[in-house]
Amino acid sequence: MMAPSGWLRTAAAIVAVTSAQFSEGVTVATPSACATRFDWEIAQLTDAAIANISKQESSSASLFGFGSDTKVASPVCKVFPGDALWPSKRTWDLFNATVGGALIQTVPLAAPCYNNWPEKDAATCQYVTEHWSDPHLHVNDPTSTQWPLFEGRTCLPTDDPNDNCTLGGYAAYSVAVTQVSQIQLALNFARNANIRLVVKNTGHDFADKSIGAGALSIWTHKLKDIKFFADYSCKGHHGPAFKLGSGVETAEVYRAADQNGVTAVGGECRTVGLAGGYIAGGGHSPMSALVGMGADQVLSLEVVLPNGKFVTASEDSYPDLYWALRGGGGSTYGVVTSVVIKAYPKIPVTTMTFAFLTGPNVTADTFWAGIRTYMSYFTTFTDAGAYGYFIVVGTGPGQYLFNFMPFWGGNMTQPQLVKLVAPFLNDLSELGIAVTPNITEYDSLYKAYNGSFPPEQVGTPVGNSASRLFPRENFATPAKLNATLGAVRYAVEQGGVLIGYNIRPAMNPAVNQDNSVNPAWRKTETLFILGGPAVPNNATDAQVAAASKVLTTDWMQKWRDVSPGAGSYMSEGDINEPDFQQSFYGSYYPRLYALKQKYDPTGLFYAPTAIGSEDWYITGQLPYLPTQNGRLCKKT
Ligand SMILES: Cc1cc2nc3c(=O)[nH]c(=O)nc-3n(C[C@H](O)[C@H](O)[C@H](O)COP(=O)(O)OP(=O)(O)OC[C@H]3O[C@@H](n4cnc5c(N)ncnc54)[C@H](O)[C@@H]3O)c2cc1C
Ligand SMILES: *[C@@H]1O[C@H](CO)[C@@H](O)[C@H](O)[C@H]1NC(C)=O
Ligand SMILES: *[C@@H]1O[C@H](CO)[C@@H](O)[C@H](O)[C@H]1NC(C)=O
Ligand SMILES: *[C@@H]1O[C@H](CO)[C@@H](O)[C@H](O)[C@H]1NC(C)=O
Ligand SMILES: *[C@@H]1O[C@H](CO)[C@@H](O)[C@H](O)[C@H]1NC(C)=O
Ligand SMILES: *[C@@H]1O[C@H](CO)[C@@H](O)[C@H](O)[C@H]1NC(C)=O
Ligand SMILES: *[C@@H]1O[C@H](CO)[C@@H](O)[C@H](O)[C@H]1NC(C)=O
Ligand SMILES: *[C@@H]1O[C@H](CO)[C@@H](O)[C@H](O)[C@H]1NC(C)=O
Ligand SMILES: *[C@@H]1O[C@H](CO)[C@@H](O)[C@H](O)[C@H]1NC(C)=O
Ligand SMILES: *[C@@H]1O[C@H](CO)[C@@H](O)[C@H](O)[C@H]1NC(C)=O
Repeated sequence: MMAPSGWLRTAAAIVAVTSAQFSEGVTVATPSACATRFDWEIAQLTDAAIANISKQESSSASLFGFGSDTKVASPVCKVFPGDALWPSKRTWDLFNATVGGALIQTVPLAAPCYNNWPEKDAATCQYVTEHWSDPHLHVNDPTSTQWPLFEGRTCLPTDDPNDNCTLGGYAAYSVAVTQVSQIQLALNFARNANIRLVVKNTGHDFADKSIGAGALSIWTHKLKDIKFFADYSCKGHHGPAFKLGSGVETAEVYRAADQNGVTAVGGECRTVGLAGGYIAGGGHSPMSALVGMGADQVLSLEVVLPNGKFVTASEDSYPDLYWALRGGGGSTYGVVTSVVIKAYPKIPVTTMTFAFLTGPNVTADTFWAGIRTYMSYFTTFTDAGAYGYFIVVGTGPGQYLFNFMPFWGGNMTQPQLVKLVAPFLNDLSELGIAVTPNITEYDSLYKAYNGSFPPEQVGTPVGNSASRLFPRENFATPAKLNATLGAVRYAVEQGGVLIGYNIRPAMNPAVNQDNSVNPAWRKTETLFILGGPAVPNNATDAQVAAASKVLTTDWMQKWRDVSPGAGSYMSEGDINEPDFQQSFYGSYYPRLYALKQKYDPTGLFYAPTAIGSEDWYITGQLPYLPTQNGRLCKKT
């Protein structure tokens, strides 16, 4: 560590005036009007503070200033490590000092397995290898993501220490932010120095939208505050609510809700960032059948804009951003630091699990007749407010398995659920499919969730998947139902893994649903996710790309053919989705694109398949294997 010279001391003083403690755990608000900002959201970067840095270090004068809102000519490509214009070590040190030492130079998670890293350490390597499929490992790392495929598989755990571990698609540096002022400095620095910018929360996104070679990454993981309002009373809204820092994970919110006697709306995965990519992409939930999408619950958001300014987005402050940040996708319009969401009174939840599979009494055709029977009840179940989470998968030639993980009756008692599913179980029985339902009633969502959803497994280096939002009409007539079943059966017979969510987001007059959630969601009866052809972990890039091509152009094409005009869920989507603008954003695309030009005229924020991403390309990509390992350049 070099001795602090004058400019480093000055930069440190700036941090001193902006530093405030951030608290972990749940705080309970005293009755108040609208939510106030968290302590760490109050102190902001000012022009005076920026002038203070440049007074001591004149070469930095243009590095930290706020952006302008007019479109300015910017270079075709972002700078890349090794370029003459890549910031010098001295400049990175200055930046590090201004952000209070929160800058982290990337060391890939599995670097301790490799001789070519000074971090080489057998015990750490063993730990990383054993925990690679545990999402927490990646969530707690500044740069790692859950899907190494689009990082280029350049540093997987290995037992051959002579392999070469490189940064691949991982960001060059991250800022472990705990203060809004650090985010402002990082955005200003990245924009002024023309560095690629990424935002990483948990790294859960299926298309690895949180990584990028040569990028400066904003790591939001440490923004963990949870504040509970028993009676939030703000501009016409009354009732329980939470204010959540953007690093908070789903299980943490569910636990806080349970402790305070209410129910929060979140997804089924424990470690997904509820206030990060989940809400930004729309957010589906076991609660959706009762109260709508995750994004529908948002009352306001705090956001650092691409120009570095910090604003509140709500119905009466930046209403266009309020609309766009609730469904238009992450890493597009700024860095969200916190959200306020509506909560609901505590509800009972009753779950049901059972499996059926081909066997001596169940032929493949009977199995598929069983799947058809379930599909014929989709609308009955969603009308009743239920949610079904299930898997359909091949287990051998001509052999298949169906499993509920679980069937979920939100706000239902055991007798109510038993009555709802009785005709369905009867129909299965008449087909000769014997099942043994396990029906369990819980007194809260958190307990039902904890008892139902096992921790996820992530980290497979080769898998790719896609999704389709099938509308109600696909299940409304026998002909449509048969066509849908045929397309699904085709994919599973070829080796696809179907993860199904029978889910229909409710219309809810108690919240503002005029947002940018993909309009296809409003017609959705079921979300089907499809895992692509199995490829071995040691498959070459060409083999992985070939498998992805089959998924996108053959299996999924059949799904698109039976649901023309429908969409796909961006947060569980295919990075290769054709016409992604229509699939992920539908008719809102032009409006979202115009807002992108308004708020991010220089193109500071980029992520694959995000709004405006079609204006950019990454060098060196293989068709159907779009890694983030190259340089980011504008199409000219
Ligand atoms: C096992 C598993 C289960 C899932 N279950 C569900 C489910 O039940 N329901 C559902 O709707 N989705 C589900 N998802 C999908 C999940 O919602 C998305 O992957 C989501 O994008 C994750 O957001 P994140 O912030 O945790 O992850 P990240 O990958 O870190 O971020 C996702 C995107 O949002 C951006 N972003 C994150 N935070 C911010 C911020 N503060 N400001 C601006 N941009 C930001 C990132 O740059 C990136 O582009 C699941 C995913 C997995 C892997
Ligand atoms: C500028 O830096 C000095 C220390 O050099 C510090 O005392 C002062 O508070 C700073 N002013 C601002 C606005 O940050
Ligand atoms: C940033 O500063 C902190 C504290 O001085 C130091 O620990 C860290 O290594 C620095 N980061 C980089 C990338 O130099
Ligand atoms: C490791 O990979 C880098 C980047 O691809 C390359 O420059 C370097 O020569 C490789 N080193 C070895 C020992 O293979
Ligand atoms: C198959 O059906 C026969 C006759 O109904 C029954 O005795 C047997 O238990 C069934 N086997 C399985 C695996 O369900
Ligand atoms: C749950 O059911 C009760 C009683 O029918 C109803 O009053 C309440 O609004 C429901 N809650 C939700 C979240 O749907
Ligand atoms: C039924 O499900 C509950 C909740 O998952 C579980 O605790 C219980 O062991 C299950 N019972 C049987 C018989 O499998
Ligand atoms: C969560 O589940 C675990 C294991 O299944 C159990 O031990 C624990 O008591 C559960 N917690 C709650 C709050 O239900
Ligand atoms: C749909 O499939 C079922 C079961 O295979 C069949 O009985 C029915 O005639 C088909 N209906 C139409 C309209 O194709
Ligand atoms: C992957 O490993 C298998 C078995 O170890 C081997 O047969 C195959 O050739 C390998 N494939 C590649 C592309 O290296």
